[in-house]
Amino acid sequence: MADARPFHWEYQPEHVPREVFRIEGGKPLGGNVPISGAKNAALKLLAAATLTGERCRFTNVPEIEDVRVMADTLRDLGVVVDHPEPNVYEVASGDVEWLFVPLEAAAKMRASFVLLGPLLARFGRVIISNPGGDRIGRRPVDLHVEAMRAMGAQIDYRNGYFFATAPGRLRGAEIRFPFVSVMGTENALLAATLADGHTVIRPAAQEPETDDLITFLRKMGANVERTYPDTIEVFGKRRLRGAEHNVIPDRIEAGTFIIAAAVTGGRVRLEGAPCDHLGAFLDVAGRAGVGLVCGNGTIDVDGSPLLAGGFRATDIETAPYPGLATDLQPPMCVLLSQADGTSRVHESIFEDRLEWLAELSKMGADVRLVDEHHASITGRSRLHGADVEIGDLRAGASLILAALAASGTTTIHGAHHVHRGYENIQTKFQDLGARIERQAEGTAVTSS
Ligand code: EPZ
Repeated sequence: MADARPFHWEYQPEHVPREVFRIEGGKPLGGNVPISGAKNAALKLLAAATLTGERCRFTNVPEIEDVRVMADTLRDLGVVVDHPEPNVYEVASGDVEWLFVPLEAAAKMRASFVLLGPLLARFGRVIISNPGGDRIGRRPVDLHVEAMRAMGAQIDYRNGYFFATAPGRLRGAEIRFPFVSVMGTENALLAATLADGHTVIRPAAQEPETDDLITFLRKMGANVERTYPDTIEVFGKRRLRGAEHNVIPDRIEAGTFIIAAAVTGGRVRLEGAPCDHLGAFLDVAGRAGVGLVCGNGTIDVDGSPLLAGGFRATDIETAPYPGLATDLQPPMCVLLSQADGTSRVHESIFEDRLEWLAELSKMGADVRLVDEHHASITGRSRLHGADVEIGDLRAGASLILAALAASGTTTIHGAHHVHRGYENIQTKFQDLGARIERQAEGTAVTSS
């Protein structure tokens, strides 16, 4: 078993190869693009497999860095994680003994914190690193910790780590959050499946990824039900069984490719796309003038209105599902830079998620940051190539969209951020006719 590195003061961040994307813009995209499995479902499903000692099998798992980090984190715990073929993972958490999730994992991927609930519920103890904040916000985990305490856990915080124990067994509880937290809901839900008694979680996240987790937990034999749109109720069981599950498609990846087609004036068909999970987003894109047709598992996007004078300015506000996803705010801002008039943007979820707009304005977008939650974008801007830096996953993908829409060449530094959450993004864009290359920072140009 890998010797997990001890504490914060001994943590040396792993060297991440610095890569850039080099993009020649101004070419309408065309063709079909397959949508991969959802990152924000797959990570929680892999964590849920630790609730049983029996084998679990997942298909349609995206081949992305975050999934690899979760798999390695599970292996470090002593969990058997097999990867028999692309997009397939098998997990068996028979004899987990090293109940320690180090900073190393948390620093690479916040979702490692969703291991708190299942490990505490099944093994009664875990030491887990505080994931801390990132470029989009402070992102505390106080609601997760309070939910575990409500179920009877004792949790101390020292040196950047939560030391959690559940003497005896967790017990069911009434968990009331002050506002919706996606992973807060999921951590409480996972823990409640093995707790003694009845748990009510409210307001519970309504995200499709959370429902995918509920579907899988029910296959494991858990007694879980969404009794109101904003309420999840669980009757705990003594043990759960292994199960198989196919991960739902990634609505955030789908939204990203819809905007890519729109801002290049292209025509693209998304295959395996979750139209019914994209309600609020399709409403806004449709209001802005993007041509959208939902079919059976497909979405046809027509960006030609761009060539006929641009899209219509539209105000947007992010909100928990079924509201407009905050993860689709950055791509949507690129679309609004190509709309006639001024659009107001209210990012209600994360306090630093508009900062990336400074990079978009380097490409010629007319952006005004009002405060940490409000901005306005005036268009239509003629975007041009530039040298820009990625700070986080979704901003990274959005700078790729802006570069595809721009005239000239753009160099995007920090490509590794994008690989965390998008499967084969470069190949998928090349297959749609994009001129995009990945290159190690400072070396000769290579194509993938
Ligand atoms: C999940 O993060 C997603 N991550 C995020 O996607 C997504 O942006 C977010 O939900 C909102 O939809 C995964 O599923 C792995 P929250 P999560 O708890 O659960 C505050 C991506 O790009 N809060 O719903 O961490 C928090 O700071 C990522 O794929 C507390 O104050 O988000 C935020 O302002 C980025 N205390 C708000 O709640 C807590 O204990 C909502 O966050 C927990 C959260």
